[in-house]
Amino acid sequence: MNDTIQHTIVSRRTIRKFQPDDIPLHTIVDILEDAKWAPNHKLREPWEVMLYKGDGKGHLIEHIQESIARTEFDEEKAEKKKEKINQFIHNIPIHLLVTVKSATSEKERHEDFAATCAFIQNIQLLSWAKGLGVVWKTNGFIFDPIFREAMGLEPSDVIVGLLHIGKPAFIPNPKERKSIKNKLTIYDTQPKKQPSFF
Ligand SMILES: Cc1cc2nc3c(=O)[nH]c(=O)nc-3n(C[C@H](O)[C@H](O)[C@H](O)COP(=O)(O)O)c2cc1C
Repeated sequence: MNDTIQHTIVSRRTIRKFQPDDIPLHTIVDILEDAKWAPNHKLREPWEVMLYKGDGKGHLIEHIQESIARTEFDEEKAEKKKEKINQFIHNIPIHLLVTVKSATSEKERHEDFAATCAFIQNIQLLSWAKGLGVVWKTNGFIFDPIFREAMGLEPSDVIVGLLHIGKPAFIPNPKERKSIKNKLTIYDTQPKKQPSFF
């Protein structure tokens, strides 16, 4: 396997179809131990992780379903969504709810959210390097304060993502990215002052 960091970054794909095989808990804990080396200002290590596996998934499913029932007023659609999430979570071995406390200052909130995103990308890359796939999800229920409270969080805590992890059953082709030249502005000379007429 080509395990250069460049190869891992470029070849990683979001995985949405998983094999049902169990993943040993120590594999995920090892991934998290390495992911914690994400840059974070003042070493606040602002992330928190809740891991759901086996029978522990029931708690997650129950509260997601309750959130769907509260927010989806079309009963038929709500029932379909509830069954879909039940199957999805049952069929994938590991689920991580990654959260961050909402700091009082805008600067700290910004830094802590950004650091937690770096932590999540580390989880995605480390998983990929071990042959595991991840989908980072931001479904509507993560914005539901009642859901957050039901999960043992403060209503003001931010869920940065719900990560679903397992062995990939299907690896999609990459969705092309624009050349970075479209996003890059290079300043390599001193800006000239307007010529003065006086
Ligand atoms: C902050 C964030 C939120 C995302 N939320 C979702 C989501 O709710 N559902 C989903 O299927 N994919 C989600 N994704 C995955 C993106 O859709 C995926 O990264 C994108 O399609 C590019 O595919 P790739 O990761 O394979 O390169 C999310 C990714 C990020 C970074």
